[in-house]
Amino acid sequence: MKKRLIVGLSGASGAPLAIDLLRAMEEQEDWEVHLVYSDGFVRSLASESAVDVDQLRAMAAVTYDNRDLGASIASGTYVTQGMIIIPCSMKTVAGIASGYSENLLLRAADVTIKEQRKLVLVPRESPLSPIHLKNLLWLSQIGVRILPPVLGYYTNADTIEALTRQVVGRCLQEFGIQVSGFQRWREGE
Ligand SMILES: Cc1cc2nc3c(=O)[nH]c(=O)nc-3n(C[C@H](O)[C@H](O)[C@H](O)COP(=O)(O)O)c2cc1C
Repeated sequence: MKKRLIVGLSGASGAPLAIDLLRAMEEQEDWEVHLVYSDGFVRSLASESAVDVDQLRAMAAVTYDNRDLGASIASGTYVTQGMIIIPCSMKTVAGIASGYSENLLLRAADVTIKEQRKLVLVPRESPLSPIHLKNLLWLSQIGVRILPPVLGYYTNADTIEALTRQVVGRCLQEFGIQVSGFQRWREGE
């Protein structure tokens, strides 16, 4: 049976990160993506990419309706290897930090925490307010991995696509997933 990764997409800027992560996961033969996205993500996708939501859905093994709180990923008995939310809005950060699971994306994150599975957030906002920082700190303290999409200048990447792949590679490394084009510091020296 393939390993399951829940991929949540929310309404922060950074839709190209989501697209590239789904592309990278298509290379992984022993993994399947369980996709859930918010209305906010659809809006940011439209303003940041020519890719449409149907193309993203085609890259996932299963796509869920964010309103469907009875979906499999809403239950801890449905086994997954964890969840990544990329990009992750401050609203979604707040919902997870407070346990306010009003949609499936938030519920799946809540379940991931309660089952002590790996949850990786790729939060995007600038500047970060004390509210954002407090929520992120709390989540970090309970074991959630916080990976803001920072630029890895040290790789000397010369395109936005290459920088994006660095962020995606770093995120998927959290699950032991190796992606093409990802450069580790000093590897191969
Ligand atoms: C074009 C656009 C860009 C946005 N960028 C961000 C962002 O970078 N970070 C953020 O926290 N919210 C951002 N927002 C606001 C969120 O989309 C908004 O708070 C939304 O309610 C988030 O809901 P969701 O987390 O359920 O997707 C943006 C909104 C729009 C329309």
